[in-house]
Amino acid sequence: MCGIVACRTSRPAVEYLRVALRRLEYRGYDSVGVALRTVTGDVARLRTTGRINALDQLVDQWAGTRLDGAGLGHTRWATHGAVTEANAHPHTDCTGRITLVHNGIVENADELRDELRAGGHRFATSVDSEVLCHLVEHARARCGDLFEAVELALSRVKGSWALAAMEAQAGRIVVAANGSPLLVAHAPHGDFAASDIGAIAEWVDEYRVLDDGDVVELAASGRWSRRGGVAGQRPAAIKCTWHACDADRAGYADFMAKEIDEQPEAVSRVLDQLGGGIATGELWAGLGLPPFTRLRVIGCGTSLNAGQVIGHAVRRLGGIPTAITVASEAAEEIPDASQLCLAISQSGETADVLHAMESTAVSGSPVVALTNNPHATLARRAHAVVECAAGTEIGVAATKTFVCQIVAGVALMISALVATNRLASATANRLVDDLRRLPDQLFAAATVAKCVVPPIVDQVGTATGFIFLSRGAGLPYAAEGALKLKELSYRWAEHYPAGELKHGPLALISTGTPVVVIDNGDPKLALNMAEVRARGGHVVSIGPAGCDVPLADIRQQPWGPLESAVPLQIFARNLALALGRDVDKPRNLAKSVTVE
Ligand code: F6R
Repeated sequence: MCGIVACRTSRPAVEYLRVALRRLEYRGYDSVGVALRTVTGDVARLRTTGRINALDQLVDQWAGTRLDGAGLGHTRWATHGAVTEANAHPHTDCTGRITLVHNGIVENADELRDELRAGGHRFATSVDSEVLCHLVEHARARCGDLFEAVELALSRVKGSWALAAMEAQAGRIVVAANGSPLLVAHAPHGDFAASDIGAIAEWVDEYRVLDDGDVVELAASGRWSRRGGVAGQRPAAIKCTWHACDADRAGYADFMAKEIDEQPEAVSRVLDQLGGGIATGELWAGLGLPPFTRLRVIGCGTSLNAGQVIGHAVRRLGGIPTAITVASEAAEEIPDASQLCLAISQSGETADVLHAMESTAVSGSPVVALTNNPHATLARRAHAVVECAAGTEIGVAATKTFVCQIVAGVALMISALVATNRLASATANRLVDDLRRLPDQLFAAATVAKCVVPPIVDQVGTATGFIFLSRGAGLPYAAEGALKLKELSYRWAEHYPAGELKHGPLALISTGTPVVVIDNGDPKLALNMAEVRARGGHVVSIGPAGCDVPLADIRQQPWGPLESAVPLQIFARNLALALGRDVDKPRNLAKSVTVE
C-alpha cells in the first residue's frame, strides 16, 4: 500500500528520501513522487508512474535551484483515480506553497471538493488526497499557521489518514495520523516521519508511533496535539530493532527465496521467545485475559489460512468450538458473549481486520492480536498481543510470517488450554517437543523441495489452472498453496476439501490438469487421487515417503502438515519465475493493505 516519508535534514532531503522510498518499495506501489524544498523556498515536485529508478533519473536531471533539507516522498498504490503522473503524490494547493502526501481514504471528498471549488480552489485531479491539500491551504489562509491549519482541515474530514504537509517557504512540515500508520523520529541526521520504520531505520535509534487524531510538528521539540487538544502524554519511544541486513537479499535471487530459507531459524526464535511459558500455561496467564469457551479467529488471506490451522488445533486439543471469520465479512457474524477473539495480521495494519474489531461480532469480546509488528494499530487496539517474531518480511507474498503465525498461535492456544485445565501439562510438554522439531523438519522439506519441485514445474508449467486438495488439518495448507500460486504466477488456482471434488470441481479435470494433493495421511485421499488420475489429471502429491514431494517424519499433528508449506511456496515461486514474474512484487498486490 502507499508509503509516506517526510524529513527535515541538514543535508539535502533528497539524499534521504531516495533511500527511504526504496525501503518502502516492498509495500507495493504503482507511482512514486517527491516534493523537495529548494534553497529559495520553492518546491521541486517530481513524480512518475515508473519505478523508483525512473524517479532517480528525474532527480539526477534536476537543473533548477539547489535542493534544500526538507522534503516529502510517497509511493502510491492506486485506489481513487487511475495510475497517472497527475494522480501521483505529492499533491499541491492552488498557490504551490503547500505540498502534501497522504495514505488513507477521504470519505467526504466529493462534498469537500464541491465546497472548495465554490470558494475558488482549482483542482488538478480527482484524487481524494488533493482535497486535503486545498483544505489545508484554505485553513492556512484563515489562521496563518500550518500546524493549526492541518488541525482545522482535519476536523472537517471523515475517513482515515497518515499525511505530511510541507510549507515550502518556511520549510515546515506537519504530520498527522488517524487510522493509518505513521511514526516520527528525531536523530542527528534530522527529523523524520514515515509510515514504516524500515524506511528511516538506518538514521534513527528510536521512534514514536502517532495515535489516532495526533497532529505533530516535524521538529525535535515540535508541538504534538491530539484531537485538537494538547496531547497529555506523547506515545512512548520505541527502540528501533530493524537491521539494514533485513533489506539485503544476502546473495539470494529474491527476498522470497531468502525468506523461505529463514523459516527454520524464525521458528526457533518464536519458540525461544515463548517456549518456557507454553506448557506451564504462563504464556496465556501473562496476558491477563478472561477464560473463554469459544474462539473466533479473524484475518485475511494468508493470515486467515494460518488462523484455520490454529482453529483446527484448538478444536482438536481442547474441544473448543471455533469460528474462522474472514475479516471483511465480520459484520455478518453473530456475537458470542463467551468468545475470545484472535485477530491475526502480519502487518497489524490491515484495514479489514481493524474494522472487524469494531463489528458487533467482535466488539465487547477480549481480543488478542497475533502480529509481526507489536507496535502496529492492531496491537495497540487489542487487549493483549503475541508477536509472531518472523523478522522483517520484504516479499509481498507471506512465507515466514505464515509459518511463524501458526507456531506462535498454536503455542498460545496450548498455553491457554493448560492454564484453563483443558490440557494436561504432560501432553503440552510433548507438543512443545514436537514444535521444537519443526525447524529441522522445515529445513529438510526445503532441501527436498529444491531438488524435486523444479522438474515438476517443467511438467505442469504450461497449465492455465491448478487445483489443490486435502482433508482435515491439511486443508488450510491446500488453501495457502493455491493462494501463493495465484498471487505469484497469475494463474488460476483453487483449493477444495478433497471430498468436495465429486460434487462439482471434478468437471474441471481433463488430461494434464495439475492437481496438488497435500497428503496428511487421511486414507480417503488415495481414492480422491485415483478419481483425478482416472480422468487424466496430473496428481502432484506432497506427503509421506512415496509422494512426489516426500516429507520425512511427517506426522499427524494438531497443526497439520506444516512442513508442506515449504514445497508449496517453492512450487509457486518456481512456476512464477518460469513465467517471468516478479516474485517479490506481484502485480496489483501490496504488503500492507490499509484500505477496505
Ligand atoms: C498473501 C498475503 C496476503 C496477506 C493479507 C493479510 O501472501 O500476503 O493474503 O496475508 O493481505 O495481510 P496481513 O497479514 O498483514 O493482515
